[in-house]
Amino acid sequence: MARVITALDNRLSPEAWNGLGAEIDARLKELAAISDEEGKLTRLYLGPAHKRAVERVMSWLVEAGLEARVDATGSVVGRYAGASTEARVLLLGSHIDTVRDAGLFDGNLGVVTALVVVQRLARAGIRLPFSIEVVAFGDEEGVRFASALGGSRALAGRFDPKLLDERDSDGISRREALIAFGCRPEAISAEARDPVATLGYIEVHIEQGPVLERKELAVGVVTAINGASRGRVLVRGESGHAGTVPMMMRRDALVAAAEMIIAIEERARKDRDLVATVGRLDVANGAVNTVPGEVSFTLDVRSPSDAARYRAIEDIKQACADIAIGRRVEIGVEMPYDAVAVVSDERLVTGLKAAVERQNLPVHLLPSGAGHDAMAFGGQIPSAMLFVRCRGGVSHNPAEFASVADIDVAARVLLDFVVNLSNSV
Ligand code: HGY
Ligand code: MN
Ligand code: MN
Repeated sequence: MARVITALDNRLSPEAWNGLGAEIDARLKELAAISDEEGKLTRLYLGPAHKRAVERVMSWLVEAGLEARVDATGSVVGRYAGASTEARVLLLGSHIDTVRDAGLFDGNLGVVTALVVVQRLARAGIRLPFSIEVVAFGDEEGVRFASALGGSRALAGRFDPKLLDERDSDGISRREALIAFGCRPEAISAEARDPVATLGYIEVHIEQGPVLERKELAVGVVTAINGASRGRVLVRGESGHAGTVPMMMRRDALVAAAEMIIAIEERARKDRDLVATVGRLDVANGAVNTVPGEVSFTLDVRSPSDAARYRAIEDIKQACADIAIGRRVEIGVEMPYDAVAVVSDERLVTGLKAAVERQNLPVHLLPSGAGHDAMAFGGQIPSAMLFVRCRGGVSHNPAEFASVADIDVAARVLLDFVVNLSNSV
């Protein structure tokens, strides 16, 4: 595969470009064995598997010749110093936390790809006019606590200390979990990166959608990331005996919630680019012979337009309130998590497009419906993403798959991007 040789390339031997995909894939499989659950990949923020995964990534970073540390939010940061101490910093990375019963590529692919690419530079003894920090965030999914992006928001100087009081389903606060993990919550604000000293953040991630596969492309450059809101709806009726309470006298919280969930889907279908999801429903004291008195369900609303997202949330709140009145139940809606839509940095997008072209590949630009750590940097530190084709667009599912060949293409594009960035900073 012919490539434009650039200034720095000639100190990168052809071997440095070989076997990237296979090496990344092997490490991903190794990392995927570190889970909180037997027989499936579940790695929740600040849990035992996250701790073991942090240790494994730390060991890889040190082996690669980087200085490695765990930051105040539990993210791993591997630093590859530039040619001079005043060098600015390029951030590369993604997340190593997962959803429950996850695939092995979501997040982890971006961390391992960044690590292997930097290792190739270190092995060649190449020092760049900028430093590189490989970052493995631990709180992207937001499964354990209500809010997400805690690690990346810390680097962007946007960590809200209120998040420290969020509690998980066992009642453990984020603060307590951080301290138990060996982190110092009081040091989180110091993790903020100076935007002037930071070149930007680049994240390689599976697309988690069907577009690249349909276009038969290995990679695509992300133009924007949809905004997202997350929260929980609490419905309180009256529990009762399933055998004795007449249907017309019931204040059944679960049936009310079911009607609300249908109303949420109907509202989401009205906006072409908007999506709304109820991913979890919990019935308090659920039993086969008890009329449910209290349920709660999660709500996730996303759109490329923040205004459309906020309008939809207001409409959903109103629809649920109307249903609650009709069914004589009480309702509470809390939407603590808000991530605004983010447009990729034009200069970094241009650099990624040029790298794709130098790899003799067609450039495809596409938006991201999924959220990513890259969105935490929006407006503060330039960010951009490179998507990798994934089979059937399947993700948040153990069937998630990206081929070694496509991973190899993405790694070569990232290495090419980094090498050529050296010629333009
Ligand atoms: O939910 C998301 O979009 C991401 O996978 N955390
Ligand atoms: Mn992800
Ligand atoms: Mn995910």
